[in-house]
Amino acid sequence: MSEEFKAKVRDISSLGLGIVDHPSGKVFFVPGTWVGDEGIFRIESEKKRYGHARLIKLETTSPVRVTPSCPHHGFEFGSCGGCPWMMVEYNEQLVAKTKFVSQAMKRANLLTSVDALKPIWASPKTLGFRNRAQFKTDGKRIGYVSAGSHEIAEIEDCLILNDKCRDLLVGLRKQLPSENWKASPGHDWNFIEIDDGLEAEAIKLNARQAFKQADEDQNLRMKSWLEDKISNLSEKDRGPIVELFCGSGNFTEILSRFSSHQTLAVESTPHSLEKLKDRDLVNVEVLQADIFLSESWGKIKSSMPEARVLVLDPPRIGFKSISKFIENFPSLQKIFYISCSIPDFIRDISSLVGWELSELQPVDQFPHTPHLELLAELTRREDAPQKA
Ligand SMILES: C[S@@+](CC[C@H](N)C(=O)[O-])C[C@H]1O[C@@H](n2cnc3c(N)ncnc32)[C@H](O)[C@@H]1O
Repeated sequence: MSEEFKAKVRDISSLGLGIVDHPSGKVFFVPGTWVGDEGIFRIESEKKRYGHARLIKLETTSPVRVTPSCPHHGFEFGSCGGCPWMMVEYNEQLVAKTKFVSQAMKRANLLTSVDALKPIWASPKTLGFRNRAQFKTDGKRIGYVSAGSHEIAEIEDCLILNDKCRDLLVGLRKQLPSENWKASPGHDWNFIEIDDGLEAEAIKLNARQAFKQADEDQNLRMKSWLEDKISNLSEKDRGPIVELFCGSGNFTEILSRFSSHQTLAVESTPHSLEKLKDRDLVNVEVLQADIFLSESWGKIKSSMPEARVLVLDPPRIGFKSISKFIENFPSLQKIFYISCSIPDFIRDISSLVGWELSELQPVDQFPHTPHLELLAELTRREDAPQKA
């Protein structure tokens, strides 16, 4: 039997796990625990400097624990692993997220002033906010991935989804059992993506939907932030604009409102670009390109050699070559970077020379998880090299 030990959770890791100290001094990470929890922990796996453990018996309960509203929430086999912080008061989740950002920024020494880090925008709703989901199905069950495993956790309902998505889930469950949804040999499941813009008849097996910001209330706020930022620039500095990772035009729609300047919107996924073209935006040129390939940059540069604003909203892995990319745009004055990964964001902006992080706005789009969205404004330093 694995070793058990008594400990108290003293902090939360950036991946959202409780941190406890083993009597030997080694650190263990524990899912489903919060600062103030005390009890018996069992070692599950161990490396030289740290390990993972499981809570076996809770003897003292953290004062900020609450009863999770979802019956599927949990950390045992068969429970849904989707909302690992649902057992904690929402305000405490925000405190933890704020600490993640401020500590990471302090370590990286990136903020120009303490005022540059703005208070986090709480989600207006903590249930019913999510407008999309990816379910797994093996033809017998439909659900999410079970906590700490590679199994389907069957779900009857998902309370964080909005009403339209919950209705779509009800319709999908009615189709069970389904021969067509059986996993093919060598696979554990098929996936089904839904979003609140889809009708039930349009749902297909293993078909990716175009990216969509998951919380529409927070998305509207993010779009207003970008609109205000660009409105506040001088007429001369508002454009031309290069927008990277534009998806189906969520932010492009805002950029197109600045009629005095053209925007070049770049994206690789064809079905996102089709949706963007359907919007019929004025002042926008669209380019299909793989932004991670430096060979694509020549086309972007030749369309917008005088770009003064760069807007980018990359996938979770960020844009590692951002500093090399912007060397092609010596007239750039502002970068608006929308990020969903603190470490990748820090890596990217740390690579920029001659730029300062003038504002960082954390946004909670993902209640009950450790995930966080960041809106960043970067300004070229006055002493930085400018275009002659
Ligand atoms: C976080 S989403 C943002 C989309 C959009 N800004 C929005 O708000 O809906 C990132 C986008 O980057 C696109 N993407 C991922 N890798 C890419 C690449 N190598 N080149 C171009 N676009 C890419 C994805 O298809 C996705 O649309």
